[in-house]
Amino acid sequence: MMKVLVTGGCGFIASHVVDAYVDQGHEVVIVDNLSTGKMENKNKKANLYRVDICEDGVAEVFAREKPDVVNHHAAQISVPLSVEKPLLDAETNIKGTIRLLELSKEYGVKKFLFSSTGGAIYGEAERVPTDEDYPPVPASPYAISKFACEKYIQYYHKQFGLKYTILRYSNVFGPRQIPHGEAGVVAIFAEKLLNGQHPTLNHFPDEKRGMIRDYCFVKDIARASILATESQKVGIFNIGTGKGTHTIDLYRETIIALRNNGTIIPQAFDEPRRDVARAGDIRVSTLDPTKAKRDLDWEAAYDLAGGLLETIQWYSGHAA
Ligand SMILES: NC(=O)c1ccc[n+]([C@@H]2O[C@H](COP(=O)([O-])OP(=O)(O)OC[C@H]3O[C@@H](n4cnc5c(N)ncnc54)[C@H](O)[C@@H]3O)[C@@H](O)[C@H]2O)c1
Repeated sequence: MMKVLVTGGCGFIASHVVDAYVDQGHEVVIVDNLSTGKMENKNKKANLYRVDICEDGVAEVFAREKPDVVNHHAAQISVPLSVEKPLLDAETNIKGTIRLLELSKEYGVKKFLFSSTGGAIYGEAERVPTDEDYPPVPASPYAISKFACEKYIQYYHKQFGLKYTILRYSNVFGPRQIPHGEAGVVAIFAEKLLNGQHPTLNHFPDEKRGMIRDYCFVKDIARASILATESQKVGIFNIGTGKGTHTIDLYRETIIALRNNGTIIPQAFDEPRRDVARAGDIRVSTLDPTKAKRDLDWEAAYDLAGGLLETIQWYSGHAA
């Protein structure tokens, strides 16, 4: 059993990570300022410190708890907000991460796990599915800040021997997701359709099926943290399915899952509304997970339909 400090543990992804650690019998301490996280996501067995990773209070948490492992998920996660307010993004994502690295060094943390982004860091990659050796071309302040964190983490490893695993996630979806995050399209479609609204599909003029993304279910993502925590491997791992799905197919699968779950969707919604791609939208993003399979024995267990069904069941019980 280990003591794991999970930052952002009341948020979408990391609350599932906390659940997985607790299920494995580990002791979990959460640091979360509840800016986007919610108390209802908090695992009852975990101890929450309502603290900002950019403030000194986090040092007191390390001093008191002395965690074995740090699993860092707290972040400013909106790409558009990072474009609008790059300083704010860097404050949380870069300076917050450096503060945690300093404390991890000071308190002898055995492993530092970091949630990076395969969806944003590679940019419009020429090689898809994209592997970890592909040189990142981060195209937004958010992606730049994540890449900078990776470099700091590798520096702390080289300089001070801090072991690390960087997990570059693809587009994560599942229960508890909020619509305005990095990859909120499933949450947007589900919430709108459940509220009787007609969703919009953004696409490039020459590709009416929308963008291609690698959708990975959040429980698979959480399992990657468990395997990475148990592993002695240090390094960067893509965590995704390797499969690409057009937005229109995601939309149709979402409607099927909703109807299978008993929601009445008007036939007029069988086709989404249309709008142009947003600035900075990437056409194709899929991740090659071969290295995670080889070194961590991780691979996605859920397919899109299976993940969507669990997601829809959750949203149906939580519709606003
Ligand atoms: N959603 C995706 O598809 C995706 C893809 C790649 C990487 N990621 C990364 O995964 C992590 C979690 O993302 P998510 O989608 O679950 O987002 P989320 O907003 O649901 O979770 C972030 C959590 O961090 C907390 N937080 C934010 N700023 C904080 C601060 N300064 N101090 C303390 N707590 C703070 C929030 O309250 C929230 O609970 C992020 O690091 C994100 O960059 C997400």
